[in-house]
Amino acid sequence: MAFYDWNPGIETGIALIDSQHRRLVDLINDLHEAMIARKGKEITARVLDELADYTVYHFGVEERAFAKHGYERAAEQKASHDHFVARLEDMRAKYERGSLMVNVEALDFLLGWIKKHILNEDMLYVPFFEDKSFD
Ligand SMILES: [Fe+2]
Repeated sequence: MAFYDWNPGIETGIALIDSQHRRLVDLINDLHEAMIARKGKEITARVLDELADYTVYHFGVEERAFAKHGYERAAEQKASHDHFVARLEDMRAKYERGSLMVNVEALDFLLGWIKKHILNEDMLYVPFFEDKSFD
């Protein structure tokens, strides 16, 4: 069973963005799978790396489009992105050092953050991007 089943309620309706959000959720499910299957540290670390890298990529796509089109909440949303990326980097470093476990609390934090990112921030740009493109 997946840690989180994709819910249409968190879709923005922007195909590119929704597919990237799905990838983030899939990676959290992969981390969960690695956790319950007691996969080795190397595999878990690889998924965590992929999640951090893909998050940076996704935020970059959003931020470039914000800058290109002059989205008014760009600075606020970038600050929030930077905060989450720093937390992810911290988790990744702690996991490497052995001072962090990938457990349900860690997964809840990651999933909760991504849901907040979508519902409280990305949803706000949907009307603005109605006639603009992300690529
Ligand atoms: Fe997003």
